[in-house]
Parts: sequence; structure tokens; C-alpha cells
Amino acid sequence: MVVSSNGEFDWANAVKEFDEAKSGVKGLVDAGVTRLPRLFVHPPELLQSNPKLETSNTPAKLPTIDFEGVERGSGARRREVVEEIRKAAEEWGFFRIINHSVPLEKMDAMLEAVRRFHELPAVEKMPLYSDDSRKRVRFNSNSALRENDSASWRDILTCVFTDDQLDPQEIPLACRVEVQEYVKHMIELRETMSELISEALGLPSNYLSSIECMKSQAMACLYYPICPEPEKTLGTPKHSDTTFLTLLMQDSIGGLQILHDNQWVDVPPVRGALIANIGDLMQIISNDKFISVEHRVVAQPVGPRISVACFFTPSMAAAAKPFAPIKEILSDENPAVYREFMFREYCQYYKIKGQDVVSALPHYKIPS
Ligand code: OGA
Ligand code: NI
Repeated sequence: MVVSSNGEFDWANAVKEFDEAKSGVKGLVDAGVTRLPRLFVHPPELLQSNPKLETSNTPAKLPTIDFEGVERGSGARRREVVEEIRKAAEEWGFFRIINHSVPLEKMDAMLEAVRRFHELPAVEKMPLYSDDSRKRVRFNSNSALRENDSASWRDILTCVFTDDQLDPQEIPLACRVEVQEYVKHMIELRETMSELISEALGLPSNYLSSIECMKSQAMACLYYPICPEPEKTLGTPKHSDTTFLTLLMQDSIGGLQILHDNQWVDVPPVRGALIANIGDLMQIISNDKFISVEHRVVAQPVGPRISVACFFTPSMAAAAKPFAPIKEILSDENPAVYREFMFREYCQYYKIKGQDVVSALPHYKIPS
């Protein structure tokens, strides 16, 4: 317990101690903690299960979209899927995908590889422990905590593929083969999603690919250890993704929730399914047609929970050019509601604002 001379919780020192151990939350669990360390206690208002407490409403269910047959040309099946994506992206910002092209064995192998990495002896992970976002491969737990922010009960291995590339030698051996396989499938599914989302916006299939808005990805390999006092903390706090698109795989433990109609709605695991999530940047370029929705992961008394989130962001070339609401979808009735912005500036803004600001969107809104 870190307590300063005046008896109050010494937040800065607790962060320092946790970071210097370089062994993440898994390190605390291995050391045998039976109570939640103070640094991880979230204020009660952030732990609420329902903002409006309208528990009498039966919670709505996340849409599931079946990709069976979608690849084959421009037939009726494809039009149906595009329509389902349009509706889900407008109303939910989140949807489940089944019968996608990623083989179940590759998904299972990837989850197992992520577990293998995080369950390596702490000393083997320490050299990768870093908060430096310029590092393409890094291991950490809670990056860039600002003063008095609570930490969350999870560890992350991040692998950044800029323009779809990352030197395999940089990927930890414990998961190298599986990460390389999985990223290939993610790139393939990204291409499919890119076409379908373009069509759902009423644009030519190649539109989003031509602006290279999803040509890089950060793959977050998340590990949520068993939590001793799950009701006091979170696995991942409420946030929206700062991406164009996120593709998420979760194991069978559960805990993901999305904020839909002001209610926390569970996203129960479905074996073999993936989850697509519209990010803030897609909301901006679609001029608010598609929505980026807040979500979180509750901590659990069971686990570990493993998930893999692939965050799609612009290519190197596209990151150096401005983005703005897509001209082709604007009209007198649908004028741009966001100003032009640079991807890098957007990331900076998000970073500076840190954890309290759940979305950087309002910063780019044109005052009406
Ligand atoms: C994220 C995220 C969800 C999960 O990392 O942005 O929302 O299930 N993760 O781990
Ligand atoms: Ni997220």
C-alpha cells in the first residue's frame, strides 16, 4: 500500500511502483494479491451498471450479420448484407459477424498464443515493457495514466503493422507464427469490410480502400487476469475507439458491454464470431451517418479473459493528408458537420485529453 506522509493515497508513487515492476497486472496476481490494489479502484460513478437504471426494459440485442455468400459478386445476397451493415452501423455502431473468412482453428490458435505470451515468466516480458507509442511491439498494462486516473485490470501486448507491415523478428517468439497468420486474415477481412462499408455509404466498393484510411493496424492482444474484487474496478474503462474500424475477437469468458440507448448492453461471446466496431474517424468521414459507440469491459472473478482487438488506421501516406466528411455523401440537406483534420493531430488531441474525454469528436464539430 502506497501512502504519503499525510496519510493520503500517493497516486504518483503507486503508478511509479507498478510501472517499475514491469510485470503488469499478471505480476500482481502471481504475487498473490487477494485485495484490489488502491490504484485499480474506480470511482463508483464509473462502475454503474446502468446510467438510467431502466432495468425493466429488456435489453436490446446486438445485431449479428451472416457473411455467407457475400464474397460472390454483387448479387442479391450481397445487397442484403450491405443493407444489414448500413442499419447496424447507423443504429449500433457495433455488430457481430459470423461465417466470415477467418478459420476457427486460426482464431483458437491466436487466443492460445496470446495466453502463452502473457503467461511467460515476467522476466521474459520485461524487456518489452514500454509506454512509448513509437515502439512497434510493446507490452504494458495501463499506458499514459494521468494524475489520479484509476488503472484497469488488464495487460496488453501491442503489435503495430504500419501499411500492413511489421518485421516478424520483432514479434515475440511465443506468439510469432500465430500473430503473422492472424494478421493475414485480418487484412483479408478488412478488405471485405472496406468494400461493404463503402457500399453501405452509397459509394463505389473501392472508395475507402482508395483513401487508404485503414491500411495500418495496431493489434492489441489483451489479457484480463482473474480479479479479486471485480465490482470495484474495470477491465477496460468506458471509451470509444479512435480508429476507422476495429475488428475484435473475444474468448468465451465475456465482460464486453456497449452503451446503447443509454443502457449497458452485454456482448456475450459467440464461438467463432468476430465483432466489428465503427470508430470515431469513420463517424467523422461518414458525417455522423455511422456511429462510434462507447464500450467497456467489466472485470471478472473468473479468467483469464483473452481478446484481440485490431485497430485500423490510415496508411503512412494517408496520415500525411487531411481527412474530412466524404464530399460525395454531402449535400444541401447533409452539410459537413465536421471540419477537415489531420490524423496525427487527432491522435495528439486524444492523447492530451487522456482518459476523461471519451471521444475527440466534439473537438472537430463545426459549431452550428
Ligand atoms: C479496446 C476494447 C474490448 C475487449 O481495446 O478498445 O474495446 O473485449 N477491447 O477487450
Ligand atoms: Ni475499444
